[in-house]
Amino acid sequence: MSGIRITGLGKALPDRIVTNDDMSRIVDTSDEWIRTRTGIRERRIARGNLPEALKNEQVPGAAQSAPERAETCTALAAEAARRALQDAGTKPPEIGLVIAATMSPDFFSPSVACSVQELLGLPSGIPAFDVNAACSGFVYAMTVANAMMQQMSIGCALVIGADAVTSLIDFTDRGTCVLFGDGAGAAVVRKDEGCSFAGILGAEGKRSALSIPVGGHMLMDGRDVFRFAVTVVPRVLEELEKETGRSLGDIDQIVLHQANDRIIEHIRRKLALPEEKFFRNLQHYGNTCAASIPVALTEMKEQGLLGPGTRIFCVGFGAGLAWGGLYLEFQ
Ligand code: COA
Repeated sequence: MSGIRITGLGKALPDRIVTNDDMSRIVDTSDEWIRTRTGIRERRIARGNLPEALKNEQVPGAAQSAPERAETCTALAAEAARRALQDAGTKPPEIGLVIAATMSPDFFSPSVACSVQELLGLPSGIPAFDVNAACSGFVYAMTVANAMMQQMSIGCALVIGADAVTSLIDFTDRGTCVLFGDGAGAAVVRKDEGCSFAGILGAEGKRSALSIPVGGHMLMDGRDVFRFAVTVVPRVLEELEKETGRSLGDIDQIVLHQANDRIIEHIRRKLALPEEKFFRNLQHYGNTCAASIPVALTEMKEQGLLGPGTRIFCVGFGAGLAWGGLYLEFQ
């Protein structure tokens, strides 16, 4: 196992909270159906992606005279990254690599990572690029960052997970539109030989489970994805145990991709683990794709759950099908 450490975390979410009751005004659904099937109570939707029926409503508490805050995938990524740098006490010139995980960028080119480099004034000449591994994107990006940091002389990296996926959702399809939300999370990562890290990645191409054609909307076979998730996550956790020599009992928190509370509960029961071991914030944000794990980590830090010596397993899973696991230690 090689050594890297997360030294700062940040998140950025659109202002607009869209409740399940709001969703029931645009499709034939109900708060009760969404809550019992998914655990989701509300999600954030970027202003530009709001369906017509939910536009022109005031955001409670928002200053009407203030200039509009940008809520594109790039803007959210840059805001999360800026906050992560601030949290780490890291200055832009220290960054030697930027990787952004996304499947819903605003531009095919430049990458979100290059746009963040420009917006934040990060050093010119450093590598910056995006990875697309859907909801496993942040796990992939962290693992690639680690490999590059070990192979090249890079001491500090910025790793971002950002998706404004509601731009790719059909708001007349009740089977998908109630599940997703927008957001971004970012981590400042430093090489640290005293801090163990492990990353496990895998994929098995299967377009029929979940796809987003260029110029089209998300198509999903919900049951197929559910079955995949509850099968692959225990397997990844077992691989992480083998790779790290740490049992689930040695791990303080397990952070699963925040897709659906029923998926998390199914896995928790199968492994007979206590509820407190699984951090959850999907009730507030729905599935934010590549942002879900870094936003969860940011909120765990805000809640004092990432103290010195804290050990974490993260597992991402989603379209591809692709999956991945991380072992993280905090100091
Ligand atoms: N509100 C009300 N009814 C809905 C609905 C909604 N938002 N979405 C679907 N339904 C209906 C279906 O039309 C179907 O009706 P029918 O029986 O009359 O045809 C019924 O509910 C049951 O649909 P089904 O798809 O069998 O429900 P389910 O119990 O499998 O739950 C999911 C659907 C999507 C919640 C579930 O399959 C799931 O969580 N899958 C994983 C999805 C996921 O996490 N994807 C991203 C992974 S990264």
